[in-house]
Amino acid sequence: MKPTLPGAPQLQRVGDALQLDGCDLDALARQFGTPLYVYSQRAMLEALAAYRRALAGRRHLVCYACKANANLAVLQSFACAGCGFDIVSAGELARVLAAGGAASRVVFSGVGKTAAEMRRALQAGVRCFNVESLPELERLSQVAEALGVPAPVSLRVNPDVDAGTHPYISTGLKTDKFGIAHAQAREAYRFAASLPGLRIEGIDCHIGSQITQVEPYLDALDRLLDLVESVEADGLRIRHLDIGGGLGITYRDEQPPQAEVLVRRLVQRLDERGHGHRELLLEPGRSLVGNAGVLLTEVLYLKTAADADGKHFCIVDAAMNDMARPALYDAWMAIEPCRLRGGTPRRWDIVGPVCESGDWLGRDRELDLRPGDTLAMLSAGAYGMAMSSNYNSRPRAAEVLIVDGRPKLVRARESVAALFAGEYLLQD
Ligand code: LLP
Repeated sequence: MKPTLPGAPQLQRVGDALQLDGCDLDALARQFGTPLYVYSQRAMLEALAAYRRALAGRRHLVCYACKANANLAVLQSFACAGCGFDIVSAGELARVLAAGGAASRVVFSGVGKTAAEMRRALQAGVRCFNVESLPELERLSQVAEALGVPAPVSLRVNPDVDAGTHPYISTGLKTDKFGIAHAQAREAYRFAASLPGLRIEGIDCHIGSQITQVEPYLDALDRLLDLVESVEADGLRIRHLDIGGGLGITYRDEQPPQAEVLVRRLVQRLDERGHGHRELLLEPGRSLVGNAGVLLTEVLYLKTAADADGKHFCIVDAAMNDMARPALYDAWMAIEPCRLRGGTPRRWDIVGPVCESGDWLGRDRELDLRPGDTLAMLSAGAYGMAMSSNYNSRPRAAEVLIVDGRPKLVRARESVAALFAGEYLLQD
């Protein structure tokens, strides 16, 4: 049996060729050049639809966490589908608005919002601020009062549950920097209610990313509901529950719950505890876009190190500046040739041109390769381009979105001139 590819169902091996949404990826690499990100709009919208199916008939808002992939055309695709957005900066707000997103469907998360960002978001009319500390509550109230626009707030509570994921992307333990400690949250709501510029709307948490089990979500939800009950006993009203994002995807052999399963379990718990009437907000990022994208790269050179047990290196034209996840999190991401050769495979370390030993994309991969081949790094739609940099003065990759089976360039390859366009030479 042919092994299935981790990724969206739109990613298929047809004969020797790798296709995304019916487009031949090797041909796209030749047409647009490499490194190249390619995404399937269909895969993204189907992932969104899965969340919504399970929420049908309930008041809800899915807010795409645009930090995962903030390309304008990606945001536009979600905006046209009526999706909301989770933002963490004024930059993301500007992108959402430029892409046609509605501010009234935007929640503003993040542990360090500046006064200027708060002002901008209030002027735009965002749906809610997810506030993470008492001083942030005070600052927001001051900014809102000065503008004469009350600020809608949720408190991001740190429920102290273990999401069972990589420490860098776990956020719901009390040792993490995020949120207001569960034990202090009731008092924090009283404090928020005493501030003149704020209007309490909801409660929020986000426990981590690449979560592969339902249980941590249910634990977090239980902790939130306990708080809702005590906060409401104090005479305050909590209208919505935002349980954040974090649902994992399959990079290799992980088996995260389907979005529909996760959501059904959550709403079932809400109903059981008598909170089924409340509006439910979700902030998925990776699970909407991760498996919808690939990063294409060309094999530049093959070499064998003489003194390292004959280790074989495949040097490609994409690097840690294009895709930081392996270097940063030791992340394993599948790498597939865009054309299968069918020859004898060899074990390769797939590495980039950046001058760091940490610049690798995959290790010990059994592949039959030749210079000039195109490789596809799978599940690269989330936290790929969004985390790219110009390290080593490398211009960032181009991006293509496949819409109705047709490839559209949605970001031009960055030019070298653009890299230092904002810099100044010293005069004299
Ligand atoms: N909401 C908040 C407040 C968040 O901080 C995040 C992600 C999300 C929603 C979306 O989480 P998701 O559904 O995508 O898991 N760069 C890392 C992931 C960092 C996630 C940061 N926060 C990676 O490449 O694995």
